[in-house]
Amino acid sequence: MITLGIESSCDETGIALYQAGRGLLAHALHTQVATHSEYGGVVPELASRDHVRRVIPLVRQVMHETGVSLDRINAVAYTRGPGLGGALLVGASVANALAYALDIPAIGIHHLEGHLLSPLLSDPSPEFPFVALLVSGGHTQLMRVDGIGQYTLLGETLDDAAGEAFDKSAKLLGLGYPGGPELAGLAAHGRSGLYKLPRPMLHSDDLEFSFSGLKTAVLTLVRQSGIDGQKTRDEQTRADIACAVQEAIVDVLANKARTALAQTGLDQLVVAGGVGANRLLRARLTESIGKRGGKVFYPDLQFCTDNGAMIAFAGALRLKQQRGGKDYRFNVKPRWDLAEITEIGSNSGAT
Ligand code: KG4
Ligand code: ZN
Repeated sequence: MITLGIESSCDETGIALYQAGRGLLAHALHTQVATHSEYGGVVPELASRDHVRRVIPLVRQVMHETGVSLDRINAVAYTRGPGLGGALLVGASVANALAYALDIPAIGIHHLEGHLLSPLLSDPSPEFPFVALLVSGGHTQLMRVDGIGQYTLLGETLDDAAGEAFDKSAKLLGLGYPGGPELAGLAAHGRSGLYKLPRPMLHSDDLEFSFSGLKTAVLTLVRQSGIDGQKTRDEQTRADIACAVQEAIVDVLANKARTALAQTGLDQLVVAGGVGANRLLRARLTESIGKRGGKVFYPDLQFCTDNGAMIAFAGALRLKQQRGGKDYRFNVKPRWDLAEITEIGSNSGAT
């Protein structure tokens, strides 16, 4: 069974082919960083237009690379939400048109389900049940995962997401978009411990997060240091602040992840989403959870940020559960709570 996956929820067009029993056959990605960088963030209309240009050529590319012809595809999975409405519609309409023409199921996938299952594409992979730390540009959540579609929210951010905290702090430091990798790069030259930043809700004993206070503290620090978003000769100060920001975010994430394992009594942690690419976070989690006899699983670095492989894979798992329908009426869900996930798996849930 071969599933074609289409991801178009934000600023990356990702396409992949996944074959049950064999694994990932091919994947292709076009990132729109260059398109949006001059605006300092994603411009939704530009994102949609670029997806329109990229989807079909990338589908052709993966098919050409693998030699898989259209008539061998058994299902088309696409990101149904959450994400940018226009961008989602591009992937959803191509997926449904293709599935209709081929008379195969179209499967609407929750973007976060794609992220949280992505470590299962790697070897070794975790076994159910596990705790997932989902850290992306729009979400920061701890979930208990008991199986495909069995997700219990343990805690989440009350305001900004961890990726957003990276992005906004990076902007305040005069860095480009996306801010996370840029800030991490600058932090590598920074000296640890020179600046103190708040660790919001670190000791709150629950599994909620809050990052908006951190952003305000960074703003104050930047102003006090006189660098105020401008590139100055004082690169070292910017690097030192970047280091403090990264330390603060990583500290909170690692601490809450440890608490989640302790509270659930589970010993496997899965880290997914763009911020999961952060090297300090990975090192800190692996060390502190390893010390307690737990194990941490990450997707391949290339599958931490948005990609088609995770959508093709989630689609293949959903297809196995025979939940892919052949109703080609579709809608997208720009806002979509993962707790409603039982609804997904076929377009028949499209109300
Ligand atoms: O999962 P993702 O690609 O897109 C969403 O679904 O949001 O995550 C993007 C987020 C951005 O906020 C980006 O700055 C952050 O992940 N990110 C990082 C790193 N790489 C990406 N944050 C910190 N360190 C990184 N190395
Ligand atoms: Zn994502």
